Amino acid sequence: MPTQERRQAIIVLDFGSQYSRLITRRVRELRVYSELVPASTTLARLQQQELLDIRGFILSGGPASVYDEQAPLCDPAILNSGLPVLGICYGMQLLAHQLGGHVAPASGRREYGPATLETLADAAHDAQFYCIFAGIDATPAQTNPLDQSLAAGILRIPVWMSHGDSVDQLPVGFRVLASTESNPVAAIASAQGMIGLQFHPEVSHTPQGMHILRNFLYRVCGCEPTWTTASVIDQALAHIRQHVGKERVICGLSGGVDSAVAALLLYAAVGDQLTCVFVDTGCLRSGEREQVVETFSRHLHIPLVVVDARQRFLANLAGVTDPEQKRKIIGAEFIRVFEEEAARLAEQAGPIAFLAQGTLYPDVIESTSHDTAATATRIKTHHNVGGLPEDMPFQLIEPLRMLFKDEVREIGLQLGLPGEWVWRHPFPGPGLAIRIIGAVDEQKLATLRAADAIVIEEIRRAGVYRELGQAFAVLTPLQSVGVMGDGRTYANMVAVRAVTSGDFMTADWARLPPNLLGRISHRIVNEVPGVNRVVYDITSKPPATIEWE
Ligand code: XMP
Repeated sequence: MPTQERRQAIIVLDFGSQYSRLITRRVRELRVYSELVPASTTLARLQQQELLDIRGFILSGGPASVYDEQAPLCDPAILNSGLPVLGICYGMQLLAHQLGGHVAPASGRREYGPATLETLADAAHDAQFYCIFAGIDATPAQTNPLDQSLAAGILRIPVWMSHGDSVDQLPVGFRVLASTESNPVAAIASAQGMIGLQFHPEVSHTPQGMHILRNFLYRVCGCEPTWTTASVIDQALAHIRQHVGKERVICGLSGGVDSAVAALLLYAAVGDQLTCVFVDTGCLRSGEREQVVETFSRHLHIPLVVVDARQRFLANLAGVTDPEQKRKIIGAEFIRVFEEEAARLAEQAGPIAFLAQGTLYPDVIESTSHDTAATATRIKTHHNVGGLPEDMPFQLIEPLRMLFKDEVREIGLQLGLPGEWVWRHPFPGPGLAIRIIGAVDEQKLATLRAADAIVIEEIRRAGVYRELGQAFAVLTPLQSVGVMGDGRTYANMVAVRAVTSGDFMTADWARLPPNLLGRISHRIVNEVPGVNRVVYDITSKPPATIEWE
């Protein structure tokens, strides 16, 4: 049985910054494995993970002040471990505070926004302290021959600043490396690889931020670029094989990229021990079922069972208008269909021991973190049709559990998933049922499917599909008067929604070109019977949500 290798890792301790997750992603973009853990995690606990070869720590920013009664602290064993530590913003103040320096409480308002970081004149002389800024070039403004700063070894770079409190006394063994106009202690370091930055290197507003993080990973922590797509795949395959052995696995395909990549990894690891199941709920988009069969069965040769459950779903949805009720009905029916299918497959070809799910790292972070986002009130019960009950007679296997979405996409591409699939917009589990306002029936589904297909086709044709987070049509019950040819019409209104979004927690309406909107409207009204008016939704999230129901 192949054993798994230890993996070089950087641990990010989450003190509650909105950027904590971004730091973890940036480290991985620099090809070093990174995990985000709650701030209270102890060194002893981390060391129990034998497969992690921890090379350093990053303390994230956060909203607290070290003077708050409940201020989260870092396990002193981490600071005394001898491993490098990079403290960002609150993380820097913690370093100073916990190592015997002093932090001056904020006198006025918190400073947040762009600033110019200037390194001290002699800071670069001692490479041991300065290596976090090593190799960073002067910015264009500094190439002016009249500017004396370069000659004096001073570097000036734009950074994204955020501070209320500031460090005013350094712990023993630390030096100040850089300052900003409003903060004389904006970067500090010790010769042992303890570094504090008052600004955020992880955000794109700090253009040299990746260089700074790279310096931390490679120069300070001595990491190597081992987190590559190929190595991620190798390790995932070894893990699956070790875990699954000779048992059978079932995997529900949703039509999205996550379950697709989970299935591909499983197939690559255990071949025909895997069976994929795709349930046609009747609430799918145009051509969806055919595409699943084409891609998985014909193109990738993965064993696939398609369950036609359209009638069951439609019968259960008849007359239901409440969106949450629709979600619950579809969720419950999906589970019933899946369970029946699993039982049938087990009867046919022997027991199935594992259920594969495409759970991603952000879901794992959310369920283990203590931050407010995790406990925020549920606006919609986001029943993902992959989310099956825990009492099913399977062990769970989640090959994407430690991966971010962009990593999943890279793996998908590498394993032969067609690009069109890899870059698919997300599609909600309840599907078109929550894009038909009011009761769902076969005719409305056909109308919406036709309108939606036009939206997607035109958006693809205009070459803007990849720039959008999601784009779709909504069928409203609103009827209005129109004129077509010589006749008066009284038909439904379709709304077009297109948004840009990073994480789908917030979104902005997409500024689609007027000509594109015009073409979409023209085609829908002309080609889709029962629709005589098209409107474009120009509401951001918040206050609206992305879906209409
Ligand atoms: P909202 O509408 O809350 O949507 O802004 C945010 C993201 O979640 C998707 N969504 C769902 N996904 N089941 C799902 O699997 C659902 O019930 C559901 N409702 C919304 C939505 O498409 C968007 O990507």
